[in-house]
Amino acid sequence: MPLRTRFMIYVTALLGGLVVLVLFLVEHREVRAIFEAQKDRGILTAEYIAQFNQYLFIIGDSEGVKEDLEKRIDKNLIYVIFYDQNLKPFAANEFIKNYYSIYADSKLDPEAKKGDYFLEIKNIAVEEKLGRYLRIMEIEVPIYVEGSPTKFGSTKIGLSLEEMRAEELKTRLILILIGCSGLLIGVGGAALMARRITKPLDKLVDGTVKISKGDFSQEIDIDSQDEIGELAQSFNKMSQQLQLTKKRMEVANRRLIQAEKLASIGRISASIAHEIRNPLTSVKLNIQKVMESEGLDDIDKEHLDISQEGIGHIENFIKELLNFTRVSELHLNYFSVEQIVDESIKMIRNTLKLKDVELTIEVQERLPQVLVDGDKIRQVLLNILHNACEAVDKGGKITIALSLLKGRRGQKVRILISDNGPGIPKKDKENIFEPFYTTKSTGIGLGLANARKIIVQHKGSIHTVENEGSGACFDLLIPCEEEK
Ligand SMILES: Nc1ncnc2c1ncn2[C@@H]1O[C@H](COP(=O)(O)OP(=O)(O)OP(=O)(O)O)[C@@H](O)[C@H]1O
Ligand SMILES: [Mg+2]
Repeated sequence: MPLRTRFMIYVTALLGGLVVLVLFLVEHREVRAIFEAQKDRGILTAEYIAQFNQYLFIIGDSEGVKEDLEKRIDKNLIYVIFYDQNLKPFAANEFIKNYYSIYADSKLDPEAKKGDYFLEIKNIAVEEKLGRYLRIMEIEVPIYVEGSPTKFGSTKIGLSLEEMRAEELKTRLILILIGCSGLLIGVGGAALMARRITKPLDKLVDGTVKISKGDFSQEIDIDSQDEIGELAQSFNKMSQQLQLTKKRMEVANRRLIQAEKLASIGRISASIAHEIRNPLTSVKLNIQKVMESEGLDDIDKEHLDISQEGIGHIENFIKELLNFTRVSELHLNYFSVEQIVDESIKMIRNTLKLKDVELTIEVQERLPQVLVDGDKIRQVLLNILHNACEAVDKGGKITIALSLLKGRRGQKVRILISDNGPGIPKKDKENIFEPFYTTKSTGIGLGLANARKIIVQHKGSIHTVENEGSGACFDLLIPCEEEK
């Protein structure tokens, strides 16, 4: 059963019980008060009638008393009976004489003092056949005459309780109405409260279910300052931690796969190199010998040249492969980045000239020295510049921009190398750093893989960014110490 329904059932039951209890107590007090008021009124009425007829009663004028009594009878005062000293009826209204048991007996104690009274509630059948009864409050009070030490007689009246009953009914109805409204307001308030409590809980449950399905990007927007708010904050922290851990695990996983891949490539390339190198050297030597021999025509020489070129390619491939898979230690030293860039450009100068490429260097500020393996960083820059040279058309442009990046985790030197070639298609962007990924017919696909390996060894990063123009743009970040 949902929490909200259970809460509502408990609150309604509790409120209902409380309302019934309060109503019962209040009703009891009210009914009691109405009864007391009726009783006081009855005693007063009986005493007043006795007082009023006292003279006629003393002189024994029963007709005179009766006449007065008949005048007083109405829908509330049903009967009045005067009893003499011997407890015998002296005078009464005509109607009550039909009810002999009421008319004949005086119930008051013969020793009753002034202020004493007798009270009884009874039903009298008004229309017996129809089952109509009148509820009566019967009150009898003593009559004392001045100077007389003993009771002179008594007056008994019968008051209809119909009015009192109507009043009781009205009071009960009002109380029930108040109770129902109270209950309704209470239940309404409880429903609102239940909604306020369970709505954030629903959000929490929703978030937990999503997390259990592996979606850690859950953020619960509850900013209340109570326990639920605290729970939501802890929940958000937990999902952030989970997200972070998931990302770290993904990175670690990727690194593991990469490391395993490299290890396999290393093993394969070592065995290839071992199997190919020796026969290749003898093939190369034999070709050279044949080339040196006399009597070769130009066509034969040309064929042998092509073979030698092919062997050169294979040798180069083996060299690159071994270079890539070899895990060599870094020989760290302090270098100026500008200097490494200049040296790299010098090494590629001929290629740039051949293609008439315009190379620009932008240095935004004075850069601190970096602790790196100079040869390796040069190799990285050369690989990227070679690619750029290959990408641009004749008369193309390459730009190298150097700047300093200050962040929370220390500062880094940024090297942005962009060209105005065709750029890298979106589908290739994810793969270009993978070993042996190439789109060139003569390429090996190790240039960028090697570059990334070296940069990662330096705890830096390399990736492509959007170029303002059309071509490719590589972003290299190398950490450097802050100058003191
Ligand atoms: N500046 C660039 N413009 C366009 N594409 C590029 C650029 N640099 C790299 N690439 C793409 O990335 C691929 C991988 O480059 P990488 O240097 O690793 O290998 P390669 O140049 O093909 O071969 P090699 O091992 O001889 O360098 C390239 O084949 C090319 O498709
Ligand atoms: Mg390359």
